[in-house]
Amino acid sequence: MSHEDHALGDDPSAPSVTDPGSAPPERTAEAALRPRRLDEFVGQQVVREQLSLVLDGAAGRGRSPEHMLLSGPPGLGKTTLAMIIAAELGAPLRITSGPAIQHAGDLAAILSSLDEGEVLFLDEIHRLARPAEEMLYIAMEDFRVDVVVGKGVGATSIPLDLPPFTVVGATTRAGLLPAPLRDRFGFIGHLDFYAPEELREVVRRSAVRLEEDLEEEAGVEIASRARGTPRIANRLLRRVRDWAQVKGDGRLDLAAAKEALRVYEVDDRGLDRLDRAVLGALCRRFAGGPVGLSTLAVAVGEETETVETMVEPYLVREGFLLRTPRGRAAAPAAWTHLGLEAPEGGGGIAPMLGRF
Ligand SMILES: Nc1ncnc2c1ncn2[C@@H]1O[C@H](COP(=O)(O)OP(=O)(O)O)[C@@H](O)[C@H]1O
Ligand SMILES: [Mg+2]
Repeated sequence: MSHEDHALGDDPSAPSVTDPGSAPPERTAEAALRPRRLDEFVGQQVVREQLSLVLDGAAGRGRSPEHMLLSGPPGLGKTTLAMIIAAELGAPLRITSGPAIQHAGDLAAILSSLDEGEVLFLDEIHRLARPAEEMLYIAMEDFRVDVVVGKGVGATSIPLDLPPFTVVGATTRAGLLPAPLRDRFGFIGHLDFYAPEELREVVRRSAVRLEEDLEEEAGVEIASRARGTPRIANRLLRRVRDWAQVKGDGRLDLAAAKEALRVYEVDDRGLDRLDRAVLGALCRRFAGGPVGLSTLAVAVGEETETVETMVEPYLVREGFLLRTPRGRAAAPAAWTHLGLEAPEGGGGIAPMLGRF
């Protein structure tokens, strides 16, 4: 799923340092750094405010809040927010994900064992299989699940009433959710990339939790090169700590930050190897595009979904890449960043100019 062939360091299964996804060995390190309450959650002002209204409103009525959907690129805090929602409600949390539910029966088993007020976190909800998705519609709307007993012709379906509960769904691709499913969420929060100052605050807090003395300039450097993503900021912080401990004098200062970032091939805009490979292919092989996403993914040897969810959003947001009706195109900044000369007339966007 992630671009693991870009891994560096001793552990071949470790993700690239700027991979916004997280691999299992890293989850423990992440768990230690997760904010536990809404007021410890940095940034995302809009979502935080909306969420706190939903939670306070429900608390005031003494009822379970409506179902909530969190969308946004990986590493921006969806899982963290789901845990915070449960913590703020003082409710138990059940965690599962779309891909983990193979059959509708798996979902029925989970739903029928939910306690009153429980929060059910459904990560990667866009990857739920169709029959499970339909079961979820009914459960979310009518708090009912039809449990199938027996097999074959003798099978009967028994409707089972469920206690009130709250689904918190997370998705990196809100656009893929079928409308009927999306409509069952009373609240949809869109997480966006973080500003450098916000990431500065994230790493500052993480350093405190890690009991490390992080120098101001080092924190600024990490924050400005973390691709707008707290997961990456925290990971860079841990790599800088490694560097300081192994190669440096133990101090987390600017020199340690710069060296560690160099070792891990994070450039001054926070782009990693895969980001640069995508831009490089776009500019060199496709003359700036426009080119279809899947063609571009093949050119860099990655799955389309990886490029679409992990690479593209940040490149678009930073103005390196344009999404056009005819495919992906390089923006002038892409050529400049790669140290390339844009072809006559601007390269990738030239063919598009007539269309805008
Ligand atoms: N707003 C935030 N403030 C502080 N830390 C954050 C924030 N958002 C994410 N993190 C940190 O980043 C890491 C990844 O967050 P996570 O919730 O797992 O992202 P997602 O589920 O969206 O991929 C976690 O370790 C968490 O501590
Ligand atoms: Mg997550």
